[in-house]
Amino acid sequence: NDLFSRGEPHDPTGVELASLEELYGLMADGEPPGPGVGRFVPGEGPAGAPILFVGEQPGDQEDVQGKPFVGPAGQLLDRALSDAGVPRGEAYVTNAVKRFHFTQRGKRRIHEKPSTSEIRKERWWLEKEIRLVGPRVVVALGATAVLALAGKPLPVTKARGPIRWPDERDGYVTVHPSYLLRLQDAGERRVAYEAFVGDLQRIGELAR
Ligand code: URA
Repeated sequence: NDLFSRGEPHDPTGVELASLEELYGLMADGEPPGPGVGRFVPGEGPAGAPILFVGEQPGDQEDVQGKPFVGPAGQLLDRALSDAGVPRGEAYVTNAVKRFHFTQRGKRRIHEKPSTSEIRKERWWLEKEIRLVGPRVVVALGATAVLALAGKPLPVTKARGPIRWPDERDGYVTVHPSYLLRLQDAGERRVAYEAFVGDLQRIGELAR
């Protein structure tokens, strides 16, 4: 189940990628949207941002707007960053998989988890993206990002906290903001939110 042990996907471009624009341009050309697959949503934020957040994949709103973390989960992340005292300008946000995967039910589009093979296919690109942004800390938000960055599944509850990724970069594992949105009990949600803000404070310190 180790994404690394099955060998590195070879460079699908054959060219040296000099910028994020170039990287995203090539990625967007790669696999066109189709039934159940949305448009290409690039990462967003200042190149050179000290913190890079990796989510799972764009959601419905992200697919509509073409920007990562603009829907409910993104709004929660923004609020938590603000509560943690981490300036939004210090954060670059992106996703392990760059297209929304869904099942159409009438007018509704139901989120589908990206498959391991989709995550694996995009790993090469994610690594390039991280190198081009050049953050001090790479944060996995939830299990899909952990799988993409660690190359193997790790339980988020056990891995939560600082981590060193296989590429030797400093990292941090925390929950996905969608997890907080799914908690039904208000008290439970408040406690989980405080813990999330605590993680973001530690991430802010690591990035300084
Ligand atoms: N959830 C994610 O993982 N990424 C987004 O961009 C939005 C929601």
